[in-house]
Amino acid sequence: MTGDVRLPDAVGLDGRTALVTGGGNGMGLATALLLADAGCDVSIVDVDAAAAEAAAEQVRSRGRRAAAITADMSTTEAPARAVAETVDALGELSVAVNFAGGTAGVMKPFLDITPEEWQRPLALNLTSTLLSCQAQALSMIRGGRGGTIVTVGSSSGITAAPNLAGYGAANAAVIHLTKTMALELAPYDIRVNCLVPGTHWSAGTRHRATSPDSPPGTREFFQTAERVTPLGHLGEPAETAGVALFLASELSRYMTGHHVVSDGGILHTTARPAFGAPRTPDAVTAALGAVKEENDE
Ligand SMILES: NC(=O)c1ccc[n+]([C@@H]2O[C@H](COP(=O)([O-])OP(=O)(O)OC[C@H]3O[C@@H](n4cnc5c(N)ncnc54)[C@H](O)[C@@H]3O)[C@@H](O)[C@H]2O)c1
Repeated sequence: MTGDVRLPDAVGLDGRTALVTGGGNGMGLATALLLADAGCDVSIVDVDAAAAEAAAEQVRSRGRRAAAITADMSTTEAPARAVAETVDALGELSVAVNFAGGTAGVMKPFLDITPEEWQRPLALNLTSTLLSCQAQALSMIRGGRGGTIVTVGSSSGITAAPNLAGYGAANAAVIHLTKTMALELAPYDIRVNCLVPGTHWSAGTRHRATSPDSPPGTREFFQTAERVTPLGHLGEPAETAGVALFLASELSRYMTGHHVVSDGGILHTTARPAFGAPRTPDAVTAALGAVKEENDE
């Protein structure tokens, strides 16, 4: 490639088919709309059928074709079905961005985590990434034009994640899995890179920051995180969607197997707060209670 390139050619997405999981809201939605603006037809995959359809309608209003697919990406059947339905509607994939993920509602000290609670964030964040990337890569190989896959991690997968052990471990593993997939898919001209967001505002984080039902310390977590973020605020979805577009596009043509952090700079500080209030694990209370009972006998 010479230095004389026009921006639309450098982005290189015109007429391509893109799939965005978790595309009904937040960073996934913002990315899906940028992909449409860049010329992609976009398949929105989301567990929330109404959100998927509303997002697809926004893609169509930008002059591109869209599909809305309802799927729970934490199940093992959903990733392959989402790709198959996308291919039927819009053709083989060139781009996939995997935003479906989250804490799966498990926020507690690791000493209190049951085997079932350990599996939930792994299924939603790690296994779903593996199964999604398998199906997405095979579609790109069938299409014969190569492609780009963006996985999504979390800053909780880079630094310690108190009260989010499973979510943090799953997202750390997503970064590692990205490297392996990148090497195994390079011969097919498929690049794989990982977007790593820091804390962002979404319907979910706004709810947690304000709900009286949130675990103790949650509101303080968001207040502190906002105060200590070097750029002065928590992320808005649109602020990070551009990084996803960069990784999905030909602008990052020579990058594969890497992760890019979009966090307002907070990972460079020593002030990142632990999620939730420091609390004594129930397991420790029980263990110390047992010791006391033994001593009293
Ligand atoms: N918001 C943050 O602070 C933050 C920080 C780091 C990483 N992340 C990660 O970024 C991704 C997107 O986060 P966001 O805040 O933009 O989310 P969001 O809550 O705004 O949107 C997530 C979308 O994914 C969908 N979704 C949830 N579970 C799903 C499932 N099992 N199958 C299919 N769709 C599902 C939801 O319905 C929703 O439309 C998630 O993987 C999250 O873990 C978020």
